[in-house]
Amino acid sequence: MYTIRRMVRVRALTCGTMCLGILLASIAGRTQGAAVLAPYVPSPPDVVARMLELAAVTSADVVYDLGSGDGRIVIEAARRYSARGVGIELEPGLVARSVAAATAAGVLPLTRFEAGDVFAADVSAATVVTLYLLSASNARLRPFLLAQLAPGTRIVSHDFAMGDWEPAQVETFTASDGRSHTLYLWHVPTAP
Ligand SMILES: C[S@@+](CC[C@H](N)C(=O)[O-])C[C@H]1O[C@@H](n2cnc3c(N)ncnc32)[C@H](O)[C@@H]1O
Repeated sequence: MYTIRRMVRVRALTCGTMCLGILLASIAGRTQGAAVLAPYVPSPPDVVARMLELAAVTSADVVYDLGSGDGRIVIEAARRYSARGVGIELEPGLVARSVAAATAAGVLPLTRFEAGDVFAADVSAATVVTLYLLSASNARLRPFLLAQLAPGTRIVSHDFAMGDWEPAQVETFTASDGRSHTLYLWHVPTAP
């Protein structure tokens, strides 16, 4: 009798712990529930350089890289053009690498790196947005970007288009990695 009662109590305790675990996991899942818009694959350095050239970045710009990986686009914009920049990246480890790389490059004061979901970010200060995400992610981002960005903001995407939004310019070239890369440029239109 004692053993059965004890087993029931242990079962109840185990179930309670498991249920609490499931509840906490689901809450954590919701707070970390950002969609992964692309896996981490860095743009090669010469592709980064062409993206910034295509966007005609100057020292007056604020470059936002959405899904900024190790921060290379924001860092190169600061290093080459003295542009300010913000990187938004889901993986905190990559954000830490970005800060270390910006420090090593001597451009930390021009840059900011935020750990978080692109869709939770305020990107309205951007004058240039760079993307290396997937087609479906770009298509999801389009209304978000158009709602926040000022008319005239340039958007450059590496390798992936943005639904049926006709780009102002497209260029394809073979980079130093021997692969063909396509870059797309759009200008945020004036609101109707
Ligand atoms: C293909 S990599 C591009 C990295 C960098 N922009 C470049 O061109 O070198 C895409 C990055 O987006 C990040 N990412 C994916 N989903 C994200 C989200 N919802 N919010 C912020 N970053 C995200 C990934 O962790 C990854 O580092």
